[in-house]
Amino acid sequence: MESNQTPKKRVFSAIQPSGMLTLGNYLGALKNWVSLQESYDCIYSVADLHAITARQEPALLRKQVTETFALLLAVGINPEKAAVFVQSHVPAHAELAWVLSCFTQFGELGRMTQFKDKSIRHADNINAGLFSYPCLMAADILLYRADYVPVGEDQRQHLELSRDIAVRVNGLYNDAFTVPDALIPKIGARVMSLQDPQKKMSKSDPNAGAWVALLDKPDDIRRKFRRAVTDSGSEVHVAQGKDGVNNLIGIYAALTGKSVPEIEREFDGRGYGDFKAAVGEAVVEALTPVQERFARLIADKAGLERLMAEGAEAAGKIAGRVLAKVYRKIGLR
Ligand code: TRP
Repeated sequence: MESNQTPKKRVFSAIQPSGMLTLGNYLGALKNWVSLQESYDCIYSVADLHAITARQEPALLRKQVTETFALLLAVGINPEKAAVFVQSHVPAHAELAWVLSCFTQFGELGRMTQFKDKSIRHADNINAGLFSYPCLMAADILLYRADYVPVGEDQRQHLELSRDIAVRVNGLYNDAFTVPDALIPKIGARVMSLQDPQKKMSKSDPNAGAWVALLDKPDDIRRKFRRAVTDSGSEVHVAQGKDGVNNLIGIYAALTGKSVPEIEREFDGRGYGDFKAAVGEAVVEALTPVQERFARLIADKAGLERLMAEGAEAAGKIAGRVLAKVYRKIGLR
């Protein structure tokens, strides 16, 4: 870095390798990650250590980690601009997570709504990792001295706790950490189910017509949009209570960059059928190049391995320095 340049602010985020990523992940997070790499120093991770808080089948987990890593590159994250790596390849994450768990109170972790929700949904496996999950997430962020963390609404409380932990440790051991801020994306933040537009689009929805995977075949994507639930009426207008149409307009706007009034004008007098077909086509058009890049990446296992190793090395250098500093400050030798 040249001395007369102000260094770029740093962004960190991570995504779990749980199965197929969806159009919701793309428009709500990944598309934003791609644009952030132009103006920030970005570090992105596949959070495989977070994934094992739920029981995983080893071979499937391995496959999903590889595919998620390839998908990050396929959507446009460029390893020459951003560091992309798999969390478990950088041991400092697990190491700092332990340290941070010693500065996090039982009560704080018990108040996390995601922990409470998951404990109800998976009552047969309320493990300690599920409980201390936010300490690992705080470690992810604090290891890179991230200034900003793009997160969805569901991770906001965890990010708040990361900030609290950072402030607390800083108070005890002057300025060990950078205190991160949330970065909430402007566009297409929330993609809803195509079948029940009051619910968030989710790959755990048993009705596959409700969600679109980034790797869905073009004809399946077109069909899912043709069958998307709309509302009574026929006008393509954003309106209170017309959740189905609002969701489709949001998707179309995020993909085409058109404004809502432009979209309303474009479909003036044309009805829902035409509109749904156009949204489906826009999604196909956006995802086709992603799928082509994915196919090329996934066919070259050695190339992927090399990119993973390079990402882990770049991330590990930064993380190792921060971890060593923290160890020193707290009196470990
Ligand atoms: N817990 C996040 C999720 O499930 C993923 C994640 C792990 C993360 N570490 C992070 C997100 C650090 C932001 C910053 O979506």
